[in-house]
Amino acid sequence: MASILVTGGSGLIGSNLCNLLKSKGHSVFVLSRSKTKKSNTFYWNIDKNYIDKEAIINTDYIIHLAGAGIADKRWTTARKKVLVDSRVKSTNLLFQKVKELNPNLKGFISASGIGYYGAITSEKTYFENDTPHNDFLSKICMLWEKETAKFNSLKIRTVIFRTGIVISKEGGALEKIIKPIKLGIGAALGTGKQYMPWIAMEDLCNMYLSAIENIEIKGIYNAVTPENITNTMFTKITAKTLKKTLWLPNIPAFILKILLGELAIMLLEGSKVSSEKIKKTGFKFKYNSLENYLNKTLN
Ligand SMILES: NC(=O)c1ccc[n+]([C@@H]2O[C@H](COP(=O)([O-])OP(=O)(O)OC[C@H]3O[C@@H](n4cnc5c(N)ncnc54)[C@H](OP(=O)(O)O)[C@@H]3O)[C@@H](O)[C@H]2O)c1
Repeated sequence: MASILVTGGSGLIGSNLCNLLKSKGHSVFVLSRSKTKKSNTFYWNIDKNYIDKEAIINTDYIIHLAGAGIADKRWTTARKKVLVDSRVKSTNLLFQKVKELNPNLKGFISASGIGYYGAITSEKTYFENDTPHNDFLSKICMLWEKETAKFNSLKIRTVIFRTGIVISKEGGALEKIIKPIKLGIGAALGTGKQYMPWIAMEDLCNMYLSAIENIEIKGIYNAVTPENITNTMFTKITAKTLKKTLWLPNIPAFILKILLGELAIMLLEGSKVSSEKIKKTGFKFKYNSLENYLNKTLN
């Protein structure tokens, strides 16, 4: 059984993942910006280049999920810096500490996002070897992945999951989609034709687990289900599951842009993303259909 350090382990994905890893018998530790007396939580301060040494020296794997919430606030210049630094500077700090303390680290596994491919609506399917786009989200992902790749220079197995929209009944995107539908004011966004590559929380956590158990998994993988659905389809399936009627026209793009600023492109654009590479490792998705997943989790 392995000793695993999860940065951002207190978050939506992290807390689910920690529970799964513990249930498989692993020793799980969280690296957090909050000082706590919990025996399984270590402290770090990214701005001060500080990490509790004990967090690093006995760890077999680091799973790096920490990062300020991408869709939590408008993307002002200051907010953009927080979004980048919380991912890139944090990765660099982990790299520097691993280099300095030289633990017997067997793997560094990091989140990234399908935002790497850019906020573009098209019929193209994006694969792991596609080049990044040049908008803000692509830049964050590119810088984050570049920093992560430094672990290769220490001969440490490195895995990156370019994650789609994580669907979970506990929060995140689904909560925001469900709220207006329950209130009877749900509607598709913009043209509604943008794809929404998604992944069920359970499948994503199982993917991280498989990255620990299967040493053949190395490099970059898209973490999305094989199903390609548009925003209109997503909205309709969610309403159907909740037994609610959609009667409003699509919410115009300009309204979302006024309300959210540049961040609105995350909601208004999207293409298909391939899951072939992770499937070739033998990984099996439990949920290939949003309808089945929502029926199971919401009803
Ligand atoms: N959820 C999705 O749909 C999705 C999709 C694609 C990619 N991802 C990526 O997956 C990772 C985890 O996502 P999540 O949904 O679990 O996020 P989350 O619930 O917001 O949790 C992220 C964690 O990161 C830490 N954090 C927050 N702000 C930070 C900052 N300024 N500096 C350093 N650490 C900070 C927090 O831990 P402490 O307070 O304990 O320090 C927090 O619990 C993120 O990097 C996210 O970008 C998520």
